[in-house]
Amino acid sequence: RRVLLLHGPNLNLLGRREPEIYGSETLADVDDRARALGTELGLTVDARQSNHEGVLVDAIHEAMTDFAAVVINPGAYTHTSVAIRDALAAIPGPIVEVHISNVHTREPFRHHSYVSPVATAVIAGAGTLGYDLALRFVATRI
Ligand code: DQA
Repeated sequence: RRVLLLHGPNLNLLGRREPEIYGSETLADVDDRARALGTELGLTVDARQSNHEGVLVDAIHEAMTDFAAVVINPGAYTHTSVAIRDALAAIPGPIVEVHISNVHTREPFRHHSYVSPVATAVIAGAGTLGYDLALRFVATRI
């Protein structure tokens, strides 16, 4: 039961980037917690981050065969990337789209997601707890 936890652009700056919006936890903290929770839930969590759209697309392709589920925060690509949406549409397992902030209370350009129509579930505004919730959800589905 392998789960791909995929973080998009600028999420490597977590903890240092706009902490009033995204909090003070670092991405390493998030990934450590996700792996520990995964172990508790019987999941092997493979956490990756990239600032490059094509690298994210390639990682999603791996989920066609090598992962039972994908938890993805596509960052700003949420609002721009047909390529990431199409890659996600090709994979069989459950997909959870996570946003740390509540994108719907923010600028209008963050209100539209190319990813949501192909996601099984969407979590926004729960902070980094959203990743825990996402893992608990996929554990019930795979
Ligand atoms: C984000 C929200 C996006 O609009 C933004 O571009 C991000 C992070 C979030 O986790 O709240 O990079 O996906």
